[in-house]
Amino acid sequence: MKRVLVTGGAGFIGSNFVQFLLRERPELERLVNLDLLTYAGNLENLLPVQGDKRHVFVHGDIRDRALVKELFDRYDFDTVVHFAAESHVDRSILEPELFLTTNVVGTQSLLDAAKNHWNLDPGNKHSRDYKPGVVYLQVSTDEVYGALGKTGFFTETTPLAPNSPYSASKAGADLVVRAYHRTYGLPVNITRCSNNYGPYQFPEKLIPLMLHNAQQGKELPVYGDGMQIRDWLHVHDHCAAILTVLEKGVRGEVYNIGGNNERANIEIVRLILDRLGKPESLIRHVQDRPGHDRRYAIDNGKITSQLGWAPEYSFERGMEETIEWYLQNPGWVERVTSGAYLDYVHKMYGGD
Ligand code: NAD
Ligand code: DAU
Repeated sequence: MKRVLVTGGAGFIGSNFVQFLLRERPELERLVNLDLLTYAGNLENLLPVQGDKRHVFVHGDIRDRALVKELFDRYDFDTVVHFAAESHVDRSILEPELFLTTNVVGTQSLLDAAKNHWNLDPGNKHSRDYKPGVVYLQVSTDEVYGALGKTGFFTETTPLAPNSPYSASKAGADLVVRAYHRTYGLPVNITRCSNNYGPYQFPEKLIPLMLHNAQQGKELPVYGDGMQIRDWLHVHDHCAAILTVLEKGVRGEVYNIGGNNERANIEIVRLILDRLGKPESLIRHVQDRPGHDRRYAIDNGKITSQLGWAPEYSFERGMEETIEWYLQNPGWVERVTSGAYLDYVHKMYGGD
């Protein structure tokens, strides 16, 4: 891996990955970071790599096929790590079309550019020969598998059964990636990770939203009974898993990523209130999310046994560091929660 295209590298996981990869792989020649800077993308997340000449930020849209081709021609990437997406389930319920164009059509635009640039005989539909060492990695999610009952785990062979417009768009993208591998022989991997937490997460997602509201003494909106379960992984461990798949993964394979760390939402909300010394009377049970998945849990046996990855963070350490990061960076939260964010909060939760 010498020249990498990262998409969505100004968002939560993408910006953590850009920082991680530049730190972990000093031999990297170039990392081009293509991001549209939607409400979820923030150049401030990239301040730690500002002086690194290997990092080039490009403000643009993954659906802009001419731009994507131009970037391939100019930088001759050998690796693509595709994070860019509309990523928030509640927004997908309000605006599904945007999720389909960004997440499905955007993915196909990148796949075409990679196939055309990397195939040794691109005019020949039967050619399955590619430049050596190239790889396209699709960053997907455990949500494509749908919801679990009280028991069981998602494995890589669990049938796809997405329940929200967001997860349907991610599942659609995964199927297109799979088809490019089967039909054209494109060297790809798909990773499906569970819920991430850590620094730079936009405060529309559970942990930073609850932290933000608790700090401000506002109510904490818990959907339904709050007994829905998610399998939480620190973003650092997700980044390390992606690097492992890039370097050791078998092309064409799907790898689930998760930390064996199931928690009910209400447990997390109570932990945050307790850590901030705020009263539980701030909890407000609100109407449930339509189509809300009850439980996610990842079987990470394939990536741990075949590629040797394992999470480093305990949930206790990860949450303590994350809460501390948000407490130490009130300016970041203030800046990203102005303007368009306030309109969204009003639409979602009502009130002022
Ligand atoms: P995010 O919403 O924080 O960031 C998404 C980034 O994509 C933003 O910087 C945004 O500006 C950019 N973007 C959106 N549309 C674009 C477009 N058309 N062209 C270029 N850039 C565009 O998302 P995240 O939470 O960091 O998630 C990143 C990826 O990881 C997504 O693909 C998501 O599905 C996947 N994922 C997320 C989680 C999680 O818990 N957050 C877990 C598993 C997988
Ligand atoms: O599982 C991976 C997925 O995790 C990623 O693919 C998505 O991009 C990411 O957004 C996340 O999806 P979730 O829907 O699980 O995350 P969210 O933070 O929105 O919600 C977590 C849980 O908390 C979920 O059960 C809904 C609940 N919740 C969320 C919000 C925002 C509440 O109870 N109240 C809230 O206000």
